[in-house]
Amino acid sequence: MAEEEQPRGLNHGVGRDDTDGVFFVSMSYKGLSYEVPVQAEDSLGSIFDFVQEALDFPREYCKLISKGKTLRPDNEELLVGEAGLSSGSKVMLVASSAKDVAYVQKSRADPLVKGFAEEERDEASRRKKMRAGGGTAWGTKQDAEYNFGSIKAEFKYSTPPPYDAEKLLQKLATDPGIIEIMKTRQFKVGVLTEMSPAEAADRMSKKGQPNMDLLGYNQNMGGMIVLKLRTDTLKGFRPYHDLINTLIHEMTHNVWGPHDNNFWKLFAELKAQYMRFHR
Ligand code: NI
Repeated sequence: MAEEEQPRGLNHGVGRDDTDGVFFVSMSYKGLSYEVPVQAEDSLGSIFDFVQEALDFPREYCKLISKGKTLRPDNEELLVGEAGLSSGSKVMLVASSAKDVAYVQKSRADPLVKGFAEEERDEASRRKKMRAGGGTAWGTKQDAEYNFGSIKAEFKYSTPPPYDAEKLLQKLATDPGIIEIMKTRQFKVGVLTEMSPAEAADRMSKKGQPNMDLLGYNQNMGGMIVLKLRTDTLKGFRPYHDLINTLIHEMTHNVWGPHDNNFWKLFAELKAQYMRFHR
């Protein structure tokens, strides 16, 4: 069973439907290289998001070296293009000591450091967009063959109600970017469902990693994908872009079990494919 234990992901807006402009920057870290999908007009922050997503390093502990220049997370407003990065550019990731990183990962399990205000703001804006869309999130349908066979919410919680959770799972499954990935990669997933934050915590503690945050898992390479939809406060759902990152991560586990180079290469490809639908 391949699990995802990692924090927030790439930030991207939703709506435009351009097809070009995604390219890869080659980021090296400890002898491995990661192809990071970006666009010239992305902020540098999207690379740090990837670092956080792919390696679980808190961005504030990372910097990038590009052509002898140091790029820090506080240069976030700088655009990828302005930083001189283009297709095939090489950057080196420097992360601070494992001890610092472990410390931050530990404190991340503390709900107080998660940024509730931010999560709730995202959730409010998601709800607003849903309402504006008249309830149907995308007006799309899953592929007849390459799809999530069934979609089930968990019925243990009433705030938000299971109906909303199911609608959110439907929205994820019918996101045009996700439909495209499922179709072109010929992915099939038996069940798409949610787990409670309590179950997520329980699973990690059984694995002996009680300080890690479990965001999702993929059982039997596509048998079932389970996402932690809700925030730990149970007051709402995790931000949509965050859930999409978890979903794409778990879809990658349809092909690759361990988080090795093959895994991250495919993750980056799928993420790039998704980004062509959402910029
Ligand atoms: Ni994983």
